[in-house]
Amino acid sequence: TPGGPDAAKRRAGEHAAALVTDGDTVGLGTGSTAAHAIRALGRAVDDGLDVRGVATSYASRDLAREVGVPLVGLDAIETLDIAIDGADQVSDDLALIKGGGAAHAREKIVDAAAERFVVVADPTKETPELDRSVPVELLPDARATVERAVRELDGTPTLRAAEGKDGPVVTDNGNLVLDCAFGTISNPGALATDLATIPGVVAHGLFVGLADEVHVGTDDGVTVRER
Ligand code: A5P
Repeated sequence: TPGGPDAAKRRAGEHAAALVTDGDTVGLGTGSTAAHAIRALGRAVDDGLDVRGVATSYASRDLAREVGVPLVGLDAIETLDIAIDGADQVSDDLALIKGGGAAHAREKIVDAAAERFVVVADPTKETPELDRSVPVELLPDARATVERAVRELDGTPTLRAAEGKDGPVVTDNGNLVLDCAFGTISNPGALATDLATIPGVVAHGLFVGLADEVHVGTDDGVTVRER
């Protein structure tokens, strides 16, 4: 890709940001691709666009403040016009794995509440079937029972360790993350339901039936896939 993977991410992010119109409430996703969309929105606000952003993470809130996108609290909104968010993997039928940044609980609330959920990605995220580990956020006290339940679903859970700290990743919500390997996930909808019903699970990173479109940055433009 000319300009490297970051150029592809930037094309995708800017392409999606251009969909935002005056008066919109916009979900601000997490990760390096969504960050390009937030920066583009900041420039559009400078040029007079009237929007309110809903952050999906501490990081996206910080960036929105830095680039001047006005924010509204997630607790203050019922629906959003559009959400723009990245993904760790995107399948042929637009199922997603998210949560590489441990932000998937808030991301799922925001992305699901949006009239239009636009995924921004580079080609390395595309796969026929999902096969990465699924991040599962859980209440800290439920670690042992959730690990057991994941093993009963033929998954292999690994507690996510923090960098620069002797201990686990603690999410923006004060919880832990188990990265759960299931091999190739042939029925993401069924696994999504199974994981969601484990007591103590706050949110998992399978996003099934949520994405309306995926904007993939390429060598020289953006490819849009719709559901
Ligand atoms: C955050 O928890 C994830 O869901 C991100 O949206 C994902 O990691 C995408 O990040 P990049 O755009 O940096 O790959």
